Amino acid sequence: MDEKVNIVFLGPPGAGKGTQAAGISRRFAICHISTGNLFRQAVEAQTPLGRQVKAYMEAGALVPDELVIQLVKDHIQSKRCKRGFLLDGFPRTVSQAQGLEAILRQQGDCLRWVIYFDIQEEDLVQRLLHRRVCSNVSCQQTYNLRTFPPQQEGKCDRCHSPLIRRKDDNRESISTRFRDFEKKTQPLLDYYRKKGILVQIPANRPAKEVEERIVRLLENDNF
Ligand code: AP5
Repeated sequence: MDEKVNIVFLGPPGAGKGTQAAGISRRFAICHISTGNLFRQAVEAQTPLGRQVKAYMEAGALVPDELVIQLVKDHIQSKRCKRGFLLDGFPRTVSQAQGLEAILRQQGDCLRWVIYFDIQEEDLVQRLLHRRVCSNVSCQQTYNLRTFPPQQEGKCDRCHSPLIRRKDDNRESISTRFRDFEKKTQPLLDYYRKKGILVQIPANRPAKEVEERIVRLLENDNF
């Protein structure tokens, strides 16, 4: 894969977008932009943006479109994205998708694939209740007490910081996030299907299998 490639990972909370994005972005040397991770870093650092988004995030509600679009714009236009980007958790509304298109049009660029992580709500709830994340916000490595436990209980394998449960990984916020996904994000499936760039993958398969599907798609592509 020699040319620039821009990808979006789309899917409900807990579908495995973040888990796959880490490995895929490394493998194809493209920058990983996770709006959720960026917001969590801003909240932790108590920046003006962090103060604006904290309450939305803890409730599992979507942050207003204009704040997200500006954040993504700043990252896409940075030098580290010159080989392309993988957007994880953005866009989540039609208005965000239109905002992204406008940014890309301005720089004579476009999206190559939108990869939809297809999985049912009942599979997600257990995943999210068993998720643990590294408390170090510059790491944010993800674990799962059932499917991907850390080597040492309660400690991050990478940086040895304590593992925590995300504040929005409780039944109430999970339900809010899933309802938002159905109402506001699912319309994007048709939006991108019509553009001919939507690829659907079964996300209830083991992580290795999901990864292989994505790698095959990207390696066999004729950029
Ligand atoms: P964000 O951090 O993006 O949360 P999310 O979309 O709810 O997605 P998650 O991080 O929960 O899930 P994931 O798909 O990455 O799953 P993961 O790989 O961790 O956003 C958080 C908040 O920020 C939002 O609620 C909102 O407030 C705000 N926000 C962010 N972007 C926004 C936007 N564009 N607009 C407005 N607001 C925005 O996997 C989950 C678990 O499953 C882990 O434990 C993992 O180990 C395990 N797992 C992964 N894959 C598998 C597998 N194949 N089999 C078994 N287990 C697996």
